[in-house]
Amino acid sequence: MLIFTEIKSLQQKIKSLKNGVTIGFVPTMGALHEGHLSLVGKAKKENDIVIVSIFVNPTQFDNADDLTNYPKTIEKDLSLLKSFSCDIVFTPTPEEIYADDIQSQSFDFDGLEFQMEGKFRAGHFNGVGTIVERLFKVVKPHKAYFGEKDFQQIQIIRKMVEKRKLTVQIIACPIHREKDGLAMSSRNMRLTKEQRAAAPFIYETIKKAKIQFGTKNASEVVKWVENEFQNHPILRLEYVEIADEDTLLPVETKNPTKKYRAFIAVFAGNVRLIDNISL
Ligand code: PAJ
Repeated sequence: MLIFTEIKSLQQKIKSLKNGVTIGFVPTMGALHEGHLSLVGKAKKENDIVIVSIFVNPTQFDNADDLTNYPKTIEKDLSLLKSFSCDIVFTPTPEEIYADDIQSQSFDFDGLEFQMEGKFRAGHFNGVGTIVERLFKVVKPHKAYFGEKDFQQIQIIRKMVEKRKLTVQIIACPIHREKDGLAMSSRNMRLTKEQRAAAPFIYETIKKAKIQFGTKNASEVVKWVENEFQNHPILRLEYVEIADEDTLLPVETKNPTKKYRAFIAVFAGNVRLIDNISL
């Protein structure tokens, strides 16, 4: 497994690959878990070589503490990636990516950026768009792999690819969960024992919401979820929304030709957890 920290040397390596070699790319912020590794496994099956990037992108954090406290486990990450037969890891510094101008570009994602996460994390998707476009331009992958855990992120990246006329194919991968249902996340390692024990309630609740959406309207289901969290001693609901998968706009009643998801964001102390479920 080769490890590059500089764009120039990574690009030299990519240029030296034989014509026709397909590149699968998995961008990450490290602190890798089985969710990330499932993306690497899929990329490995579908491409000749796999490149994983590990870069805690400063411009997508709307909260300075969240950036400072973001877990960093680089040695463990590298040994996991090696055992998954990853071919190349790219671990740039912020300076390598941004030089001395650590700022996002401004994107128009046709309104996708104003829904859900966009309402609560100012500038987040401009940061994501900036780094993912930059990485795509450096790596030039044939396929790039993203997890449905961050469903809104996938739709935003698809929109960017369409608008910027990039040739990469975006592959969505299912959410990996702990045995008790909690969606795997790098942030889970910041939970206290008590918070970790409470956190499966998030998925349990959206699973029940899914059943309810069979017979009830979205606003009734949303109210029910809000009520479930109202007096929770450990978890604080930030938002729950039932939205159209394509537009991410909230819906009220079902149209059988469309796909819907329930999206949720919850705080356990100062750790923010998100999840979603196809309805
Ligand atoms: P990060 O949170 O490290 O996630 C990297 C990729 O792993 C994302 O596509 C994310 O959706 C996926 N992932 C995380 N948890 C998962 C789970 N439980 N099951 C399946 N996939 C999961 O998302 C980012 O980093 C950044 O925004 C990034 C795209 C790298 C840009 O900085």
